[in-house]
Amino acid sequence: MSGLRQFFGQPRSLVGAGFLLILLVASLCAPLITPYDPNSLEFGPFMPLSAQHWLGTTALGQDIFAQFIYGARLTLLVGAVAGLIATLLSVTFGLAAAYLGGRVDEAINTLINVFLVLPGLPLVIVASAFLRGGGVWPVILVISFTGWAFGARVLRAQALALRERDFVQAAVVAGEGPGRIIFREMLPNMAGLIAANFFGAALYAVLSEAALSFIGVGDVSLVTWGTMLYWAQAKGALLQGAWWWVALPGLGIALLGTSFALLNFAIDEISNPKLGRSNVKLPARKKPAPGAGVGNPDALLSIRDLNVGYLTPGPTVRAVRDVSLDVQPGELLGLAGESGCGKSTLAFAVTRLLDPPGAVLGGSVRLAEHDLLNLSPEELRRVRWKEFSMVFQASMNVLNPVLKIREQVYDAMQAHGVTDKQKLDARARELFDLVGIQASYLDAYPHQLSGGMKQRVVIAIALALEPKLIVMDEPTTALDVVVQRQILQEINDVRRRLGISIIFITHDLSLLVEMSDRVAIMYAGEVVELAPAHQLYAHPAHPYTQQLMNSFPPMTGPRTRRSGIPGKPPSLSAEIVGCPFFERCNKRMPGVCDVKPLQTFPVAEEQTAACFLYDPTVSPALKENAIRDSQHVQMEVSRESAHSANLN
Ligand SMILES: Nc1ncnc2c1ncn2[C@@H]1O[C@H](COP(=O)(O)OP(=O)(O)OP(=O)(O)O)[C@@H](O)[C@H]1O
Ligand SMILES: [Mg+2]
Repeated sequence: MSGLRQFFGQPRSLVGAGFLLILLVASLCAPLITPYDPNSLEFGPFMPLSAQHWLGTTALGQDIFAQFIYGARLTLLVGAVAGLIATLLSVTFGLAAAYLGGRVDEAINTLINVFLVLPGLPLVIVASAFLRGGGVWPVILVISFTGWAFGARVLRAQALALRERDFVQAAVVAGEGPGRIIFREMLPNMAGLIAANFFGAALYAVLSEAALSFIGVGDVSLVTWGTMLYWAQAKGALLQGAWWWVALPGLGIALLGTSFALLNFAIDEISNPKLGRSNVKLPARKKPAPGAGVGNPDALLSIRDLNVGYLTPGPTVRAVRDVSLDVQPGELLGLAGESGCGKSTLAFAVTRLLDPPGAVLGGSVRLAEHDLLNLSPEELRRVRWKEFSMVFQASMNVLNPVLKIREQVYDAMQAHGVTDKQKLDARARELFDLVGIQASYLDAYPHQLSGGMKQRVVIAIALALEPKLIVMDEPTTALDVVVQRQILQEINDVRRRLGISIIFITHDLSLLVEMSDRVAIMYAGEVVELAPAHQLYAHPAHPYTQQLMNSFPPMTGPRTRRSGIPGKPPSLSAEIVGCPFFERCNKRMPGVCDVKPLQTFPVAEEQTAACFLYDPTVSPALKENAIRDSQHVQMEVSRESAHSANLN
């Protein structure tokens, strides 16, 4: 349903579908549009354009306009049926070859290759010469059976690539049958290509029919755009100055091709959500408040009022909302929060890696003297890796499987002017030493390394040019706990030794508290608490942080049941009034928290929280009430869990 809405929301699909529809309706309702029979010879030859004969008459006295709209019937029929048959053959042979593999693939591939080297049009000419009579059907059949091979080759290649993709492999492992895998997992991913194949084949059929008719093969007594061209040529239309007799069918074919192309674009976008263009206008960047953008002058990185959204066809998903953060030189700033709260979006925006439909809606990011959000692509290329670098969760997959590790470590350094081989080698060894890999692995290929080693290589590459800042988004989540610990330890050592600043993102709050200097807690796109790590651990201020801490088992003491935080975060595409955590908060103050515009308040030295419990203008009695209620609930919960523990 949303696909249809998306289809009709695009100007190009509307133009493409509109033209095709008009042509179809006009050709089907031809008797209502023109009073003339296209074959009637009752008028004079070569009559000029007039009110009776809008486009004049042919050499034999037929009305040209009537011929055009009646001719569209057969032309469209040839395109649709031949396109359909050829596409069906392409899909069947292409998928069967790719999915069944082995001998079937070999046999089909041979067949495809034979059909590919057969010269299409001459074959059509020969074949249809033998199949004269029977109207337009012989032409349709011949065109379909000679036009499927190229499509089959392309679809086979795509299906082979899809077969190797993780989601198809996962479906195989999950025990899905071949039918389900082909039709549910693979085919929808090929929809764009299949549509392109259909429109390509349909246009090939229309053009072939026109070409065949034009040279007199096929049944020239039928009225099609092709036979119109044949007769116009045979009767010297241009010599007689009746250019419209030639121009009209030619224009019809060209417009038909254009409308196929427009429809093809539109279907491609719908079938591939990544290509989808949003119809939402990019909102103007919010002006930074006076004094904003300056931030702490000592800070290395200064993020001010950053707003980032995803411009989807529906409402914009506002994934980062008014975030302001500073990172000091040499500091490790931890960023935590539930899945979907905007951590990665923030990391992508700061490192300028945000792809559409993601867009920065407002705010500024300054790194040393660079205004990161306004760097030109060339400036960005110079600053990235040298001033800042990044390591993401699946970073190990960025290693190119056919290049030796050494070349990939050299790449970033070479792009920034280090070309001396000895220097490169020395630096690569030094980096490997830093991240704890033996230098001999420089000459290995990625597949010879374990996941942990590959992630270390990626971290080494991020360190190669000694950037001032590294943004790490769950850099070790894919690894086992022991390797994860080792790598984090090494990251921390390197940071201390080189004085690099790091923004470190993870779900694991206890890990962050251990490693970071300061920790920022995000919720629903906003930073709700910011504090030195030890302070956050000892005295979490925001009820969300407190509840988040409570969902992790304590490092010491008896084992107790962990509750988790009931409820879900609010939708990021909705306007949020008041505190985004209101619905789930155990210390909420109705009438305050769900009404007042959210602000950040100081809690202790260097600790801030976006929570009205710290708002000096809210009455202390209200706050005490809220805290007392939450303690009451807490006691109930403890009693219940003690009771169920006893039962166990
Ligand atoms: N391409 C996209 N189009 C629309 N919405 C998106 C897109 N990418 C992310 N989002 C939305 O933006 C929000 C923030 O996503 P983000 O990946 O930044 O969260 P996260 O905190 O990194 O989560 P996780 O811990 O799971 O990695 C989510 O609600 C997500 O649904
Ligand atoms: Mg993320």
